Amino acid sequence: NNYKKRFPENFLWGGAVAANQCEGAFDVDGKGYSVIDILSFGDNSKKLKTMSSQDVENALQDKEGYFPRRDGIDFYHHYKEDIAMFADLGFKVFRFSIAWTRIFPNGDELQPNEKGLQFYEDVIDECLKYGIVPLITISHFEMPLNLVTEYGGWLNRKLITFYTRYCKVLFERFGHKVKYWLTFNELNLITLSGYMLGGILSDKVDNMIEAQYQAAHHQFVASSLATKIARETNDNILIGAMLGRDEYYPLTCKPEDVMQSIQDSRFELFFSDVQVRGYYPSYSKRYFEEHNIHIKKELGDDEIIRSYTVDFLSFSYYSTSVSAYDREGMETTDGNGVITVKNPHLKASKWGWQIDPIGLRIALNNLYDRYQIPLFVVENGIGMLEEIPDDKYIQDDGRIQYFREHIKQMGEAVKDGVELMGYTPWGCIDLVSSGTSEMEKRYGFIYVDKDNYGNGTLQRYPKKSYYWYKKVIASNGEKL
Ligand code: BG6
Repeated sequence: NNYKKRFPENFLWGGAVAANQCEGAFDVDGKGYSVIDILSFGDNSKKLKTMSSQDVENALQDKEGYFPRRDGIDFYHHYKEDIAMFADLGFKVFRFSIAWTRIFPNGDELQPNEKGLQFYEDVIDECLKYGIVPLITISHFEMPLNLVTEYGGWLNRKLITFYTRYCKVLFERFGHKVKYWLTFNELNLITLSGYMLGGILSDKVDNMIEAQYQAAHHQFVASSLATKIARETNDNILIGAMLGRDEYYPLTCKPEDVMQSIQDSRFELFFSDVQVRGYYPSYSKRYFEEHNIHIKKELGDDEIIRSYTVDFLSFSYYSTSVSAYDREGMETTDGNGVITVKNPHLKASKWGWQIDPIGLRIALNNLYDRYQIPLFVVENGIGMLEEIPDDKYIQDDGRIQYFREHIKQMGEAVKDGVELMGYTPWGCIDLVSSGTSEMEKRYGFIYVDKDNYGNGTLQRYPKKSYYWYKKVIASNGEKL
């Protein structure tokens, strides 16, 4: 069998979720509002780009709209049942995030909220009980709303202090139990949503692109300082960066298209370049000049970024994009936060995201060629519209096919020599979509009975892919 023994014995198979999309209980046990709690169902892709102070005010006053993330799938009260299913699946690792607003409800308190800490202590202990290793994202699209309205989000340097205080609390409390941490989820998406990732309101800035990079600069410094704190607290801890990755294929071999693909790629890789290599890449100088971007740095920032780079690079991978120098008149389709020229060689999900297993091998090889540090695929998967039949058994062969092909290609990348730590498919249990706030864009091996409007029993049901993935894990990726 050509595919035998692809993965190392200690390969971390598992699944991934984020607090804001699964926990619910948004106002329980002292939790404050996060940026994402105020997004109602339906219209958030536009809002994520242009959220203003007035939009925030309107959302806070809105008593009619439905806000799916406030309920999530109520993981807050179902975590024992859910983790028991993950254990049954054979998970070696479970990626989840901590809601900053459970620990510091307004973000600027001096003392943490014990009830929030206790909840995560319970979740961590529940994982450890089954031998599941936690992989924790410290900030996954869920910064405290108060830091946006009172401080202007990550544009304000004070956020570095608030964030590192939050990290210190987490490392001191959980550092002896949790080895793997990611500082920010998909930091590069700040260029697509200054609100969600940077807490930037559109009416507060003149040059949004400049503001996004300024906020990112503060996050780079904060991430490096967090790494410093982690190392001082417990030298067992490993810190990862998290990149939302699309590979960019040139539409043709025309040099203009090839150059465009390099530029599109750099637009994402800028973020991992800084966090892995420890300095701003030379190509950023020209981009900043041409977009009137002037980053305010303080003395010592560059040194901090250089001294505390990440230990590993994690990334999400859903699809690939196509770069064309001239997109005029071309058919386009959606991807994870991007709109790309259509690739005629690929099929797409119902949401237009192009399905490209070989693209995962390409992404892994390119990232490893660029950085030579361990990689971790912390998101991958396909959103599907699924109805639960009378026998409650969803036969999601399309999802099985998707994962089979991606895991094969991941195995090829390992054989190519890529150092790969693990694989955590996204939304291992159905949860609220980030891009559209839909519940019915389902990614899970486990179905959750809930619809877009909050109706449903919240009952969990294993899908066919659940039993398939269980075998994949048990055979360490050999039985596909
Ligand atoms: C990633 C995010 O960008 O993509 C997740 O880290 C998100 O939070 C996932 O859910 C899939 O995107 P969507 O829009 O289908 O939920």
